[in-house]
Amino acid sequence: MVSFACLLTVHDLMNKDIIEEFQGSALDIPKSTGGTKKLYLESYGCQMNFSDSEIVASILSKDGFDTTQDPKEADVVLLNTCSIRENAEIRVRNKLKQFNKVKKDKPELVVGVLGCMAERLKIQLLDEEKLVDIVAGPDAYRDLPNLIEEVNDGRKAVNVLLSREETYEDISPVRLDSNGISAFISIMRGCDNMCSFCVVPFTRGRERSRSPESIIKEVESLVSSSYKEVTLLGQNVDSYRWNMTKKGEIIDPNKPSLDFADLMEMVALVSPEIRVRFSTSHPKDLTKKVAVTMAKHENICNYIHLPVQSGNTELLSKMNRNYSREWYLDRISMIKETIPDVGLSTDMISGFCSETEEQHKESMSLMEDVKFHFAYMFKYSERPKTLAERKYEDDVPEKVKAKRLQEIIALQSTHSLYQNTKMLGKKYKVLIEGTSKRSKEELYGRTTQNVVVIFGKEKYKKGDYVITEIESCTAGTLRGKALGYA
Ligand code: 5AD
Ligand code: SF4
Repeated sequence: MVSFACLLTVHDLMNKDIIEEFQGSALDIPKSTGGTKKLYLESYGCQMNFSDSEIVASILSKDGFDTTQDPKEADVVLLNTCSIRENAEIRVRNKLKQFNKVKKDKPELVVGVLGCMAERLKIQLLDEEKLVDIVAGPDAYRDLPNLIEEVNDGRKAVNVLLSREETYEDISPVRLDSNGISAFISIMRGCDNMCSFCVVPFTRGRERSRSPESIIKEVESLVSSSYKEVTLLGQNVDSYRWNMTKKGEIIDPNKPSLDFADLMEMVALVSPEIRVRFSTSHPKDLTKKVAVTMAKHENICNYIHLPVQSGNTELLSKMNRNYSREWYLDRISMIKETIPDVGLSTDMISGFCSETEEQHKESMSLMEDVKFHFAYMFKYSERPKTLAERKYEDDVPEKVKAKRLQEIIALQSTHSLYQNTKMLGKKYKVLIEGTSKRSKEELYGRTTQNVVVIFGKEKYKKGDYVITEIESCTAGTLRGKALGYA
């Protein structure tokens, strides 16, 4: 039996129906590959980690492992971890301690930590804390069969080498927690931006793009397996480039060169039946060409997640974001002009180093200006070795951070309600993703703007495109009725 345990990021925590969908038995369980050994794989953090876990499962299935949902029957337990905020690490540490207890009764159990925490803490997890047998960073997954063998031979095993080339492009992911409709495709890895609060450039290394051929092959294979939606994933998808320098100069004139907009267009042209989404964009890199390409193709969804982090220019500069409040608002205007019915979301951090009450109010006023459909909001969490940790004092008291976060969340809730209310009585094409957890008689799907709609099942099923009319809403949920196939 193959299965997958997952925890959700704050990004996923916006819609309760979706959470329940993921937490329940909605996990499609791929057939056994006939492996003799059992792997229990748990993922934390961003979508990139979930996507990486599918690569890990693929690599280990070739080594005779089937994944299991039951950690008790596992020979190997791997946690794919996140370091983005301290809380994320605390949760993983607690989980590792639990597995350590299991190991007392089952000493042959191999426990490994993958992903960002592995890269950040390296041998500390092996030597000082003695919590694990394997530590493997995000670019070391091809080495996992060897690392497991080393442990079985009685040694501890570590590989935290970061690569400038690894994109796992030749590895066909095992779709672990898939609903059979939406899949994530990693198009690039790493991040060169060095936002001062962010640990990612240290844990995931330098930016590198995957070849367009391998991406298109993966899309085609998903289309032939009846998938209906692909999300192109990268820490900063706008930096995708192929056969091109950062400045846009072509490297080999005899080969095709592509930027992100070109790639997205190629993906959209694979099939008009498949929806295309992407995550995440950086305001300094998101081009008009990307917006124009989105507007040109009906099957590229009209939704952009554009993290702003703060509404104050001075703080944005301290965050090393390389744009001002005005630049951000100008990008939003450009997007709204080019794609009039666009759905927008953002990330916001409260209580970054030296943030004053006035600066916090500027974040709120930016939110008022844009009125995002949703937002992912965080208290600043100082991360070791980041630029901010080295240069600035984490001087906003915890209580103030919490109060400001609450204010931001409350404001966002009024904006979500405002945006949802605007949709009342209107008709939207929705791709059905599954059955609502609250009622077997209800389905849920998303509009092109990434808004979830719940409606009566009638004759419809997962994977259908239907037109729904919105009948009622709260800040978190939209309910409607299906009017017919789209
Ligand atoms: N503290 C709080 N939030 C953070 N993020 C990244 N690093 C930190 C940190 N140290 C948030 C940013 C980013 C999102 C993925 O996580 O908003 O866009
Ligand atoms: Fe971190 Fe900034 Fe890169 Fe996003 S763009 S991963 S916030 S460094």
